[in-house]
Amino acid sequence: MAKVVILSGAGISAESGINTFRESGGLWEEYSIQEVCQVGCLESNRTKTLEFYDKRRMELQDKEPNIAHKILAKLKKKFPNDIVIITQNVDNLFEKAGLNHNIDVIHLHGFLPNVECEDCGYTYEIGYNKLDNSNNICPKCSSKKIRPHIVMFGEMAPMYQKLEEELYDCELFVVIGTSGNVIGVNTIANFVDKSILNNLEPSDAIEEELFDIVLYQKASIAIDTIASEIENFLN
Ligand code: APR
Ligand code: ZN
Repeated sequence: MAKVVILSGAGISAESGINTFRESGGLWEEYSIQEVCQVGCLESNRTKTLEFYDKRRMELQDKEPNIAHKILAKLKKKFPNDIVIITQNVDNLFEKAGLNHNIDVIHLHGFLPNVECEDCGYTYEIGYNKLDNSNNICPKCSSKKIRPHIVMFGEMAPMYQKLEEELYDCELFVVIGTSGNVIGVNTIANFVDKSILNNLEPSDAIEEELFDIVLYQKASIAIDTIASEIENFLN
């Protein structure tokens, strides 16, 4: 089982030009969570919700992985059984860096290039296209009720079970680019042998003193320290 668990958030994709959520100018300043990312919004506010995810999905097309994604992808290939890469992000930058979707990288909150049948749950890829309900029919049950494959606030997040399993015998916990407002990283840092925190700045939701190494700098800079810490730990 994995000994190194790397949990990333929006911050790891910031330098690839993808907005974070809670920083100034972040997505939750432009859109309200209640309108586009809350359980029930597909019923109460479907058009605006689909537009929100269409816009983010289409914007993915020209985004490239940065050095942080690439170095973590290389490490994962070098230590496939000892490193687990888990992300809260719904972008495909780890996949573009060469990792296999849902095999090498686990997405806790869904995946923008995929959509999901609301009748049978079947998930399939539409790439960077708009989810235009008129021509999106479930390949499995022919339903026309298709939604973004995104976990919204208040909905079940089935991959959290996987996170829990991987944390069971985690010995080195690495946090990159998350404010800790959704996944409680303090609890995890408290019980693992060693932990590394990399964010741009302190977060009210994270107790930095629980972490052995704290790097308040861009992930593209911190990644060298993080990578050598992981290599030393595994060698
Ligand atoms: N390098 C490292 N960290 C960065 C960088 C960077 N270049 N840029 C920003 N950060 C850090 C910020 O310091 C902040 O702590 O990334 C974090 C971004 O925090 P949030 O915007 O809250 O994003 P995240 O923690 O991923 O949100 C978690 O909330 O809205 C939901 O489902 C959504 O997955 C998301 C979840
Ligand atoms: Zn279906």
